[in-house]
Amino acid sequence: MEEKKPYVTTETPGTKYYCACGRSENLPYCDGAHKGSEFHPVTVEIDEEKTVAICACGRSQKFPFCDGSHKAE
Ligand code: FES
Repeated sequence: MEEKKPYVTTETPGTKYYCACGRSENLPYCDGAHKGSEFHPVTVEIDEEKTVAICACGRSQKFPFCDGSHKAE
């Protein structure tokens, strides 16, 4: 199985909406493509500029943040 590495990005302070459905064309952010499904974006308040790793495999226990689960088989 292909390892899906996290999206590593530097965030500025503010409210972020991370995609939980995997359909967004602007991953890791929600673009509204979840409409009509049971999924909703995950809202995170970022207080200060920092680099974050956003889960791309969907298995993280700390979603939307990566916890290294993409390395597990
Ligand atoms: S597009 Fe995936 S949660 Fe909104």
